[in-house]
Amino acid sequence: MCGIVGYIGTKKASPILIDGLLKLEYRGYDSAGISTMEHGYLSNMKDKGRVKNLYNLEGIDSLEGTIGIAHTRWATHGKPAKENSHPHMDNSNSFSVVHNGIIENYQELREFLTNNGYHFLSQTDTEIIPNLIHYYYTKLEGSNDKFLQAVHQACGDLKGSYAIEVLCKDEPETMIVARKDSPLVIGVGKEENYVSSDIPAILSYTKDFYLLNDGDLAKLSNTDISFYDSSLTPITKELKNIDWDVSACEKDGYEDFMLKEIYEQPKSIRETIGSRLKKNEKVNFEDIGFTKETLSKFNKIYLVACGTAMHAGLAVKPLLERLCHIPVIVDIASEFRYREPLIDANTLCIYISQSGETADTIAALKLSKKQGATTIAISNVIGSSITREADFTIYTHAGPEIAVASTKAYTSQITLLTLLTLYFAEVSESAPTDVISDIKDELLLLPEKITEVLKDDSKIKEFAHKVYEEKDIFFLGRGTDYTVSMEASLKLKEISYIHSEAYAAGELKHGPIALIENGITVIGILTDPTLVEKSVSNLQEVITRGAKTLIVTNQEINQTNYDEVITIPNTNPFISPILSIIPLQLFSYYISKEKGLDVDKPRNLAKSVTVE
Ligand code: M6R
Repeated sequence: MCGIVGYIGTKKASPILIDGLLKLEYRGYDSAGISTMEHGYLSNMKDKGRVKNLYNLEGIDSLEGTIGIAHTRWATHGKPAKENSHPHMDNSNSFSVVHNGIIENYQELREFLTNNGYHFLSQTDTEIIPNLIHYYYTKLEGSNDKFLQAVHQACGDLKGSYAIEVLCKDEPETMIVARKDSPLVIGVGKEENYVSSDIPAILSYTKDFYLLNDGDLAKLSNTDISFYDSSLTPITKELKNIDWDVSACEKDGYEDFMLKEIYEQPKSIRETIGSRLKKNEKVNFEDIGFTKETLSKFNKIYLVACGTAMHAGLAVKPLLERLCHIPVIVDIASEFRYREPLIDANTLCIYISQSGETADTIAALKLSKKQGATTIAISNVIGSSITREADFTIYTHAGPEIAVASTKAYTSQITLLTLLTLYFAEVSESAPTDVISDIKDELLLLPEKITEVLKDDSKIKEFAHKVYEEKDIFFLGRGTDYTVSMEASLKLKEISYIHSEAYAAGELKHGPIALIENGITVIGILTDPTLVEKSVSNLQEVITRGAKTLIVTNQEINQTNYDEVITIPNTNPFISPILSIIPLQLFSYYISKEKGLDVDKPRNLAKSVTVE
């Protein structure tokens, strides 16, 4: 989705802004633009298309300003077009604004401004913001801190979500930023400050960050940053050091971020496990500190998330129910939030989000808090919005995930949720210790086993080459293998644009088998020894009807029945999704490459979905 970068300091701003935008490309966007302060006027350069197109804009090289704002836009209101790109300016060209989010009452505000003599050049909701600021600014004649006050008053009128950066022609050494329900961070340098919607965009300039909360505003100069809450009362903030490695945000010799992130999984799983699990010790979640009494109060657990993160919840539900004897409901955040879910003080709600900025997941979390539930956020991004709303936060520590298609975050989410389940079971003494110990031992072996899976991807590559022109591909599995099927199918759709469905193998005969015809590709996942025979029978049914089959398994099966078999190491069936998804992540990757597609930035998709 849209990305924001800002710079105020002593260096030429435009190269820093464009560099930041390039690092934000992974979020998904359709246009880009920058605005800088040039000898007392505001320049504004923008266009639809790629960030690198900005280099071709006439006059871009001569921008000398040392303060500027920049944006990549993912169209919501108004098609991708130059006039709809950000920055947007007010009618008098006194204010320049970039905005992430959606202004829900923009029609009403547009009407108000039109009645007050303003006109609009774009179809966007954003264009009302600079004009509204101008409206208030002119009314504040003679007051102190007019710029800050005008932005604050304008924000007071906005309904919806926003992260904004604002420049004012008459106050050339100041930038004002504000946020509500859309991420924004400030990076601190020496005699310079940076702003961004995402830490990786400015990580090569600083590792010291202030994180803005909902309703906060900040006023920046080269050397100062003042913070205010939503009533414009000055507040103080803690400077956080984010020790992500800059190279973690680079491709490091890999052709694509997705491939790099797939190959990083031995490391990311190790980091997720961290000090939470050591051989022959109890699982450590001191930071949550639940007692047996606390846990006994919960009569149901919700796992709420979107997309891949929701699939991670599905993968862990069977274990959570088995070990903790509490009903677990896995829900899609966008459904949960509008369904009046039955939540009260006896409900534990766990929210899973790689980015921590998914609008629906945040809204669902807020709803459950209002209804008295205890909330836990699982996120990969330090200080992200979800972590600031939840009662408790645990981080996956998978390192920055840049490719739109989530890979290492998914396996880390399953790992962390598994650890949390074991912790609950140990604290509440709800499961036999040998069952817990087996899963713990297997978790510690995962990095090695993932390395083994990644050793040779030639069979996967070959199979991808055989089937990349297919129109439909089906995935089948039972139990946790079915949950992996769903994730594998999502991955394939996202980056290869091939239509794909995942079915619980036992459901085949209830309808989907009608789709099976000669030559169709079906991928089976067989890792649960208690279900393998049943899945084998279902696969036989599709083979009889002419399907080509690829099998991912750690079971002893008659391999000659299938076109290709990928053997993965054996593990406890409850955590096998962490291994069985890996060949299928690679499968999607190689299909996308065969088709010559942009693996990291698939069409229409954004890395973090910050609007509904
Ligand atoms: O940042 P989140 O984990 O909240 O994102 C949730 C989904 O948008 C995300 O998992 C999406 O499905 C990915 N593109 C999947 O690869």
